[in-house]
Amino acid sequence: MKYIRERLGAKLFLANLAVILAGVAVLAITIQITIPTVFTRHMSGMDQSMMNGGMGVGQGQGYGRTLFENFSASMFEALLYAVSASVLVALLVSWFLSRRIVAPIRTLTEATQHIAEGHYDERVQSNGSDEIAQLAARFNQMTTQLEQVESMRLQLIGDVTHELRTPLTSIKGYMEGIVDGVIPSTPETFDQIHHEADRLSRLVDDLQELSRVEAKAYSLDFHAVAVSNLIQTTVKRLSPQAKNKDIKFQINLPVDLPLIQVDEDRIIQVLVNLAANAIQYTPDGGDVIITALRQEDEIIITVRDSGIGIPADHIKNLFTRFYRVDKSRSRNAGGGSGIGLTIARHLVEAHGGRIWVESKGDGQGSTFGFSLKIVR
Ligand SMILES: Nc1ncnc2c1ncn2[C@@H]1O[C@H](COP(=O)(O)OP(=O)(O)OP(=O)(O)O)[C@@H](O)[C@H]1O
Ligand SMILES: [Mg+2]
Repeated sequence: MKYIRERLGAKLFLANLAVILAGVAVLAITIQITIPTVFTRHMSGMDQSMMNGGMGVGQGQGYGRTLFENFSASMFEALLYAVSASVLVALLVSWFLSRRIVAPIRTLTEATQHIAEGHYDERVQSNGSDEIAQLAARFNQMTTQLEQVESMRLQLIGDVTHELRTPLTSIKGYMEGIVDGVIPSTPETFDQIHHEADRLSRLVDDLQELSRVEAKAYSLDFHAVAVSNLIQTTVKRLSPQAKNKDIKFQINLPVDLPLIQVDEDRIIQVLVNLAANAIQYTPDGGDVIITALRQEDEIIITVRDSGIGIPADHIKNLFTRFYRVDKSRSRNAGGGSGIGLTIARHLVEAHGGRIWVESKGDGQGSTFGFSLKIVR
């Protein structure tokens, strides 16, 4: 029974069998019912003609025919009734069964039409477990994904518009102020405008990078690299920023770390993102420590800071694009747009690793870590 329920082919076979059996059954029953009446009617005339002393006299239907002719005629008539009835029943059974089998396909066709018109909330009911039910289940999966993609698209458009609007409004405000004479056209004003334009251009670069990593439109160039090289390059690149804020940069590395197979530039990009955040969100005079260690078949790299920390309820959203703990705070503290960690997460995951964050809360510092597989 389970075999039949799970296979459309078996159902079609059984449907055909049911049509044949219904036809044959009706044929047999109708013959059984009609033959006595038909036969009696045909024979009655013959009896009379026989009783009247031969052929040629008599009123019945069988008059003037031999026994064989009457028998054939009655068989033919009974068969005609039986075949008509069985064809009719077979047609009815066939119509009913094919409707049942085709109905889910028709529902699916209508649903695809709805999807094509942009109604992504369309779902079909999938009863049973045959191929059509499996198709319906896959169809529902597909529409759920389409719905998610569509809502992400709308969300992205909303987020990008919002992010672009802020610096643009600011630039427009300065320009209008200058034109109206409300804001003096001093080098400081132009510096502010330049700062906003710079923010805008950084944002556009970040968005381009984000769309590239989200669409996986980049290739990774794997090489065997020493972890110490990655960390030293990062520290070198960020030391001017650290120096500006009087932040102590420390590296904590065991000597016997194995080489890892990674795309050097991409992992440096991750490290720079994490370390730049650590510097950005740590008050002057704080500490940033980069540590690497081996844990089974992985290398774990962490970036710890003594900065402002992250409240527990924000931690799970931190790697979501445009997410910032405190929008006004991060803007004042250098104008982040909440893309850096999303890019870092994509790059680490593209290397088969994980990324995470730990923080004891406000003012308690944070530790960002990621893992990379050691390839032997
Ligand atoms: N080391 C850290 N300490 C405290 N908060 C942090 C730290 N790193 C990140 N955050 C929080 O996570 C948010 C997201 O970080 P992310 O790097 O993605 O964006 P951003 O720094 O705001 O902007 P950008 O896209 O320019 O990097 C930040 O806005 C900040 O609120
Ligand atoms: Mg950042």
